Amino acid sequence: MNTKELIEIEDNYFINTFTRQPIVLDHGEGVKVWDKDGNEYLDMFAGIAVNALGHNHPKLVKAIQEQAEKLIHISSIYYNEPALVYAKKLIELTNFDRIFYANSGAEANEGAIKLAVKYTGKSEVISTNDSFHGRTIMTLAATGHPEYHEPYESILPKGFIQVPYNDIEAIKGAINENTAAIIVEPIQGEGGVNVPDIDYLKEIEKICHEKDIVFIVDEVQTGFGRCGALFAHELFDVKPDIMTMAKGIGGGVPMGGILATEKVASAFVPGDHGTTFGGGPLVCAAANAILDAFDEEDILANVNEVGEYFLSELKKLDKEIIADVRGKGLMVGLELTKPGAEYVDELREKGFLINCTADKVLRFVPPLIITKEDIDKFVKALDETL
Ligand SMILES: Cc1ncc(COP(=O)(O)O)c(C=O)c1O
Repeated sequence: MNTKELIEIEDNYFINTFTRQPIVLDHGEGVKVWDKDGNEYLDMFAGIAVNALGHNHPKLVKAIQEQAEKLIHISSIYYNEPALVYAKKLIELTNFDRIFYANSGAEANEGAIKLAVKYTGKSEVISTNDSFHGRTIMTLAATGHPEYHEPYESILPKGFIQVPYNDIEAIKGAINENTAAIIVEPIQGEGGVNVPDIDYLKEIEKICHEKDIVFIVDEVQTGFGRCGALFAHELFDVKPDIMTMAKGIGGGVPMGGILATEKVASAFVPGDHGTTFGGGPLVCAAANAILDAFDEEDILANVNEVGEYFLSELKKLDKEIIADVRGKGLMVGLELTKPGAEYVDELREKGFLINCTADKVLRFVPPLIITKEDIDKFVKALDETL
């Protein structure tokens, strides 16, 4: 089937939830992908900040292949070695004590909020405007986009309060005796790559400790090296009670998870939460390969070096249409003075995949293995396009 025939299948048969780019991607290697018609693209989007090691990384492919030949799924009722080995490895790299495996970011956040409510016995959760925490009903309620709430207002759970991001006074004003948790992204992704003041998370941590409120960081997008540390909250020198993760964790296989301190995690007992697929051997084998590659290939050093270079090259662009350039590591946003969708199309036609979020922010979240040469090529094309 050709591209047109394939896309017609979606038009005719898919439930209409996405505005898709009109290309059918076929294969990839490193930072490049090719469509069915043989067109090559530099992938500056990495499947919404997922493909940490790019496409087809040999270590990831090998780990998945080898595990698929041994055991793909057994359910959470039995132990499997990749899940156990991974848990130990990841926890030794963080300030957390316990893990729960989920399958996506929304599911991780859903579980994290349940855990915070169970731990505190309280009923309200504070999140921030322009945040994104997922599409399930509860994570939607936590997501700071009233337009996403609107059709489901009648069934959204109560107790979710949104306040402006990067505004500690607003958080203080929203806290009351029912507050169970505060959930924030260390850097907002979908909201427009918004980097908070350096002491914002520290202030939240302080308030949470004082009032025994659970501090949840949603690292679904910022985690796994995206911002130059294994987890972005480390850049702000805080120790949250719970962290949620997904996207980069498995380098492309659907996986998510919750990390929690012993104190908070102990609120869950068997029967409180669960999943059929979470922590399966296949995805955990992939996640092990990702963590090993981070170490062996010094991925974080590349994120920091190339990320800084990328930001500085973007800041050199002298154009009236550019309102702001911001980000950390390889999570970078370029805010325009007008809507950005047309530039996404133009750049795709020139062989570059990017995304526009919050209407005017071009978002760049490439694979973490991208090089300065790739950045040069991209910035030149962006400059010409703008
Ligand atoms: C910060 C954040 N949290 C949660 C989610 C939801 O993750 P998922 O789409 O895997 O459910 C996303 C997705 O973009 C996200 O960026």
